[in-house]
Formats: sequence, structure tokens, C-alpha cells
Amino acid sequence: MIIDSTGLILFSPTQTTKKIIEGIAQGLQVTTKQYFDLTLPDTIAHPSQGFTQDLAIIGAPVYAGRLPSVMLSRFKQIKGNGRPAVIVVVYGNRAYEDALIELRNVAIEIGFKPIAAGAFIGEHSYSTSDLPIAKSRPDADDMATAHKFGKEIRKKFMTEISNTNELLQVPGNFPYKEIQMLSGVVPSVNEALCLRCRKCVPVCPTVAIDKENPMNTAKDLCIRCCACVKACPSYAKLLDDPRIKQAAEWLYANFSVRKEPEIYL
Ligand SMILES: Cc1cc2nc3c(=O)[nH]c(=O)nc-3n(C[C@H](O)[C@H](O)[C@H](O)COP(=O)(O)O)c2cc1C
Repeated sequence: MIIDSTGLILFSPTQTTKKIIEGIAQGLQVTTKQYFDLTLPDTIAHPSQGFTQDLAIIGAPVYAGRLPSVMLSRFKQIKGNGRPAVIVVVYGNRAYEDALIELRNVAIEIGFKPIAAGAFIGEHSYSTSDLPIAKSRPDADDMATAHKFGKEIRKKFMTEISNTNELLQVPGNFPYKEIQMLSGVVPSVNEALCLRCRKCVPVCPTVAIDKENPMNTAKDLCIRCCACVKACPSYAKLLDDPRIKQAAEWLYANFSVRKEPEIYL
């Protein structure tokens, strides 16, 4: 079988997941590529007949060893239509725990057929210049791995009959680990540095930032993804709550040794 078209289904507040799945898509060398970016709530609705491309590349970041719940609720609105899918999680050099198996299971539940999987590393959302965690990843080596992975998927597609019903095996456990997330923590704003440019407002995946007064972030909506922190041109936004700082110090102390991408074909 030949792959002509691919659909990139992703959730990527700080863009590392997006970079990886674009690298895989490049390696696939497809003619047409369509985006189903679930990061923002106004994603264009998926056609009612379901996913029609030859292959889906589905990418999600790892949050607390699982998938972000906001991504899941958007993802579950897509109909996979029995199409093959490459599933990818991107994590901040600590661990991906049950995220990849969860992505496989949900992809199957909505009608995709996972044929390959990958776990890649992206700069941790809580990485700072003082406490760098997987700084600047994915880097050139990661992108070369993503590209090669895309090429291998293409080869597999062309040489193997894709109607095997074997379940793609990936690491992880079911029942999944319980999600333990901080609550009530939002980025702070240094009013003296804030330019009132509002660049933070449209990048928020949950519309948690008040567009009239971007100093205010709704505590019940914020998922602490750091999209606003990274989008702020004057470094006025910081996720500097002591609990996050403590987590970043722990990550820096314990997970600074470089991890490498894992591929399951
Ligand atoms: C709320 C939250 C929880 C996270 N949990 C984990 C985790 O369990 N393990 C890990 O290695 N990285 C974790 N990370 C880091 C992200 O997985 C990593 O930065 C990823 O590259 C972000 O993807 P994105 O750039 O596509 O948004 C977490 C990040 C956030 C914001």
C-alpha cells in the first residue's frame, strides 16, 4: 500500500509534540498533509464521515504520566474510520508511564488502528534557564530519529499487508496510574514587565486568561501547560508558585540525564 495523505492530530501547547509529529510526517514523504490541531478549543470540526486520510499521526504530551484530559475530550470527537495510525507521546525527560498505552487504547476506541508508536522527549514545560530540563529538545538528533521513523513507517506500509489484527504492544499499565495534578496554581504576571500585548490570550488551550485583563487567569480552567509563559515576549508571565518550583528542582536534580526516543513498529 502507498501512503498519499496523512492527517496530523495533535495537542501541543508548547509546540514540542507538534515538531516531532511534523518530523515523522516529513519522513513519510506524503503528498498531502492536513492538520487537526486540538490545542485550541476552536479547532475546525472533523468531517462527519470521519477521518479520510491514509494514515493518522496522533501526538500528545505527557501530563503526570497520562494524557491531558482536555486533549482527550477533544480527541474523542474524531471518528477514526478504521484508518491506521501512528501514536506518539512527548514527555519532559522524566517518564511517560501510562500515556502511550492510554493513547493506543483511546485511538482504538474511536476507530483508529495503531500500527506504530513512539515516545519522544521535549523540553519540559517547567524548564527555565536556572533549572533546564530537557532544554531545547527535540534537538537535531531527535528530529533525525523522527524523520527516520517516518521513513520506516512508509516502508512497513509498502511491504506489509496492513490488515493484520495484531494489537500493537506498547509499555504501560491498565488500570492506568491515578492522575495527581496540582490545583489552584496559575502563572503569575509581573505587572511592571507586562506590555499588555495580550499575546498570551489566544494561545491558552482552555481560554483561562481574561482577554479584558490578561493579569487574571481562571484557576479552575488553567492546566499549567505554560503556553502563555512561552508566548510572553517580555517574560512577564511565570509559573513561579513554590510548588511548581519545587517540582522543577526535583526534576532537575533527578531527570537531567538524557533519555532517548523509543520506537515501537
Ligand atoms: C501539567 C504537566 C504535567 C507534566 N507531566 C509530565 C510527566 O509526567 N512526565 C514527563 O516526563 N514530563 C511531563 N511534563 C512535561 C511535558 O510532557 C513536556 O514538556 C512536553 O514536551 C510538552 O509538550 P508540548 O510542547 O507539545 O506542549 C508535564 C508538563 C505539564 C505541563
